Amino acid sequence: MLLSLPLIFGVLAGLLEVRGQSVIVPGAQWTDTSGNSLQAHGAGIIKVGSTFYWLGEDKSHNSALFKAVSCYTSTDLVTWSRQNDALSPIANTMISTSNVVERPKVIFNSKNNEYVMWFHSDSSNYGAAEVGVATAKTPCGPYTYKASWKPLGADSRDEGLFQDDNGNAYLLYASDNNQNFKITQLDADYYNVTTTVSQLDGATLEAPGIAKRNGVYWLFASHTSGWAPNPNKAFQATSLSGPWSSQADIAPESVRTYYSQNAYDLPLGSNAIYMGDRWRSDLLGSSTYIWYPLDFSSGTPTLVAADVWSVNLAAGTWSVASGTAYEAENGVRNGSSTILTDSSFSGGSAVGYLGNGGSVSITVQGKGTAQWVSLYFANGDSAWRNTTVSLNGGSPVWIDQPSTGGGHVILSVPVKLSLNSGSNTITFGAGQTNYAADLDRIIVY
Ligand SMILES: *[C@@H]1O[C@H](CO)[C@@H](O)[C@H](O)[C@H]1NC(C)=O
Ligand SMILES: *[C@@H]1O[C@H](CO)[C@@H](O)[C@H](O)[C@H]1NC(C)=O
Ligand SMILES: *[C@@H]1O[C@H](CO)[C@@H](O)[C@H](O)[C@H]1NC(C)=O
Repeated sequence: MLLSLPLIFGVLAGLLEVRGQSVIVPGAQWTDTSGNSLQAHGAGIIKVGSTFYWLGEDKSHNSALFKAVSCYTSTDLVTWSRQNDALSPIANTMISTSNVVERPKVIFNSKNNEYVMWFHSDSSNYGAAEVGVATAKTPCGPYTYKASWKPLGADSRDEGLFQDDNGNAYLLYASDNNQNFKITQLDADYYNVTTTVSQLDGATLEAPGIAKRNGVYWLFASHTSGWAPNPNKAFQATSLSGPWSSQADIAPESVRTYYSQNAYDLPLGSNAIYMGDRWRSDLLGSSTYIWYPLDFSSGTPTLVAADVWSVNLAAGTWSVASGTAYEAENGVRNGSSTILTDSSFSGGSAVGYLGNGGSVSITVQGKGTAQWVSLYFANGDSAWRNTTVSLNGGSPVWIDQPSTGGGHVILSVPVKLSLNSGSNTITFGAGQTNYAADLDRIIVY
């Protein structure tokens, strides 16, 4: 039987939806193809053929101590399958379960036909400040641990790698008690460092990554504020030995990189993808991933804060989903909830005092399928909050609301809801004894 093209596409789209996501949803609890939470924090990405390998920190034990460097594969950057662990603890070494292994990055060394992993190797109190190296013949390994040491005798904490077009590779690292940032060339085997080509004195940079676009080296990095976010920055140079430009914002400073920290910057067409971590320090395994397009079209790379978006790898482009916005202040309030007014809120108003006896119900139109809904919220203080979300009177789900840092800074968090076709009522803040964040609006995708 011949299926019509629209029907075939309809069936394919349905399959993709059932398999999880054909879209990237920053801040969502991302699951792998087995349905488990995706544990690959502090990401490093390497592409081999048409397969992307995502290596990262498995923090499912909710601890900063080393459990495993995980390895996931994907051909679309959205659907990830967990493979064997790339690096596992070895007792009585710097990669034991009482040590820290962070920010694994892998590059391929064609001279030795070998994958080389570099990572931040540390003691539990971050006092050792070393790099570690491990090697393997395949991208997921398992890798054989070689050594941990202080490169050129100096501290190295947060680090990244950059491999240039000519095969020269570089360690990017926070050195000298996180004061000075260094870029140091690797030897031909990628086993050790040789010469420091750039040193940004007093730059206090962490979480570095470099993407080369159109002959220009773009360094992305955060500043130092522990697990808490800060405004990540971009620096540019036409040579890795500098001079580097002064720092530029990649997002409005107040949103602190949409509560995230850079981990990896993956070229995409003439732009890139920012891959960051939204660390949750009290429950590290629940930390989520904030991936956004990095748009270079204005000359300064800027994060495109898309709630729901997709990548076209063949074309090197992305597209941002559009949704329908509903203002919280137009909802039906109950109990002690109130209207707050401030020019930073969309429409000038939000609903406050949600939770602890206050709630608001918003009527939205649905498509009769599982849909992403983004909650735009602000939190007057610097605590994390959470809110109950109840659809059509059903039992609530709890959604975490990261600290917005005080003031009336607005962030969004996603929730997936199975909306009825037509009218639906979504209630926020009911049945919780703690205060939720103030709700500005929601967008239904
Ligand atoms: C790296 O090179 C230095 C010399 O610059 C040497 O002292 C050190 O042992 C080497 N480290 C490793 C792990 O090979
Ligand atoms: C509205 O508030 C009343 C009490 O003030 C409470 O009994 C009821 O459950 C609330 N309804 C919702 C939807 O929160
Ligand atoms: C919601 O937040 C409160 C206050 O921070 C916390 O005590 C509670 O455990 C959280 N609930 C859930 C389900 O995360």
